[in-house]
Amino acid sequence: METALTRDAEIEIPLICGAMYPCSNPELVAAASEAGGIGIIQPLSLVYVHRHDFRKGLQLMKSLTKKPLGMNVIVEKSSKKYQDRMKEWTDIAIEEGVRFFVTSLGDPRWVVEKAAAVGGIVYHDVTERKWAEKALSSGARGIICVNNRAGGHAGQRTQLDIFESMHDLGVPLVAAGGISRPEQFAEALRQGYAGVQLGTRFIATVECNAHDDYKRAIVRAQEKDIVLTDKISGVPVAVISTPYIQKIGTKAGPIARFFLRHPRFKHYMRMIYSLIALWKLKRASLEGSGYKDYWQAGKSVEGIDSVETVGDLMCRYAQALN
Ligand SMILES: Cc1cc2nc3c(=O)[nH]c(=O)nc-3n(C[C@H](O)[C@H](O)[C@H](O)COP(=O)(O)O)c2cc1C
Repeated sequence: METALTRDAEIEIPLICGAMYPCSNPELVAAASEAGGIGIIQPLSLVYVHRHDFRKGLQLMKSLTKKPLGMNVIVEKSSKKYQDRMKEWTDIAIEEGVRFFVTSLGDPRWVVEKAAAVGGIVYHDVTERKWAEKALSSGARGIICVNNRAGGHAGQRTQLDIFESMHDLGVPLVAAGGISRPEQFAEALRQGYAGVQLGTRFIATVECNAHDDYKRAIVRAQEKDIVLTDKISGVPVAVISTPYIQKIGTKAGPIARFFLRHPRFKHYMRMIYSLIALWKLKRASLEGSGYKDYWQAGKSVEGIDSVETVGDLMCRYAQALN
């Protein structure tokens, strides 16, 4: 099926395997591309969780598939060191042939400029129209509409609502959040989306290196088990409500909240929060319940009944379009 997304990303199935810290291991990303969609590299996951040198990790993926790969760039203003590292990785990705970028959390202009210089393009993740307008004015080609059922940092609006608030922008829109069944994929395309971005569904695959405890928790969980916690990064993130999450609670304490909101400290507080969270999420994903039941997942857990190969999964989704 041809859509604006398949043309822009040069793929066969309008389906993105979204970037996931800590779950985007190279084998998963490459398998999604090889099966006809596009896998998105999450650089922090590649380097700090799965311990690949960035270029070598990319070359590993290129040895597993000759098809296009994408890369996630979180463009939020953080430390200079982080920003320089991201720019360096983006340059390496471009040298290695990556032409499709998914940006999130800030102004994507510098990524657009680097990508455009080699004919590449940027789709930007947003939850609201105002952020989409900003990203488009910085040169983004398409918008990924993150809805209220998404894993990661969920939005506020439903899939239909967010589409209706943005379709007059006249650019390709991709639905992200809550999709775990092929019928939901077909439905999103019928609504007018140019494609979909899935995260949680891909964790419960053979190619994903996440611990079996994590995969089992996703298969078992239902929509009602997903809660938002701001204890991970200071902004709400979707997780499975396990005994560990229930024990620590889902709200940052009063002192943390004060610093998270304070104009002078919020930047550093978020950074500290994020670093601790990245560390904990990494350990949970690699070590399983032996460490902590700390599983990020969206409401799409509802439609996930088994762990399967990426090839089988993508085949079922492609068939839903016939
Ligand atoms: C465990 C997990 C980690 C994620 N990490 C990132 C990330 O590092 N960068 C990003 O842009 N999106 C991230 N996301 C969002 C996904 O790319 C995708 O938009 C989202 O998972 C779609 O919702 P779904 O999980 O219901 O399919 C993450 C999602 C999950 C579930």
